[in-house]
Amino acid sequence: MRVKIIGSAAGGGFPQWNCNYRLSRAARNCMPGVQSRTQSSVAASADGTGWVLFNASPDIRQQIAQTPELQPAADAPLRSTPIRAVVLTNADVDHIAGLLSLRERQPFAIYATTKVLATLAANSIFDVLDPAIVPRRLLALTEEMAICGADGHPTGVVVGSFPVPGKVALYLEQRGDPTADFSSDTGDTIGVRISRADGRGAICYVPGCARIDAALRARLAGAACVLFDGTLYTDDEMITAGVGQKTGARMGHIAMSGEAGSIAGLADVKIGRRIFIHINNTNPVLDENSAEHAAVKAADWEVAADGMEMEF
Ligand code: MLT
Ligand code: MN
Repeated sequence: MRVKIIGSAAGGGFPQWNCNYRLSRAARNCMPGVQSRTQSSVAASADGTGWVLFNASPDIRQQIAQTPELQPAADAPLRSTPIRAVVLTNADVDHIAGLLSLRERQPFAIYATTKVLATLAANSIFDVLDPAIVPRRLLALTEEMAICGADGHPTGVVVGSFPVPGKVALYLEQRGDPTADFSSDTGDTIGVRISRADGRGAICYVPGCARIDAALRARLAGAACVLFDGTLYTDDEMITAGVGQKTGARMGHIAMSGEAGSIAGLADVKIGRRIFIHINNTNPVLDENSAEHAAVKAADWEVAADGMEMEF
């Protein structure tokens, strides 16, 4: 099983188009130790030929251009792709907008939960992917599913999906309702366990998570690798950076640091490799020379970068 991180940044990417915070400026200026990153997406292949994407980011065109494995093979038909399927972990813009760039009557399959499929169905722009050519399939929660291409052939990639504490997509929030609890577990966001058909090489991908509870700890225990929500280093980071009013808790993203953070929450869970992904442009770990980056490394975590590859 090969797994490639094709996009390691959170929504907006790094640098974000309108962001003038010091980190985005450093990335724009190619400061040593500060690498640009595209938006949240992972690719997996069981046979090295067909690929399953986990989320389709608005940067997908650039990600395919940067990833030869996702381009048409030299001897392939005039229109072709090694992308057999796209699995969606929620309906956030950074995870579904890339579907629009995959139009052109090219067969592949979409897998998502009932809620995410409903969002796609409610937004007719996604009909640029004709369901007769790009089938939309239900990702049944808590069941292991063999991911198949549009033609029904198994890709060899098996996915187990599980709900994680999270939040409905920003654009689906009931605006103006001050009592709404956006950090509650509504089943709007999921984590996935990616493995081969023979059950080997399990890697968990959880790009959005509001809290770590006992159920999640049990799900992640024993994984060869966990790719986990690394949006923020501290809960109030966007406020102290001066770029926004929202805490991580309000956005459905747990912070890395602190007693209630992910580093502490997963410290005693047996995991082979721990890698932060979906990193926001305010997160100081984006600077490899920062104290926060050093603290994360000291806690045995890695910070994902685009192009990182793992083999299990
Ligand atoms: C998130 O991860 O919270 C969303 O991608 C935010 C957004 O929609 O910009
Ligand atoms: Mn996001």
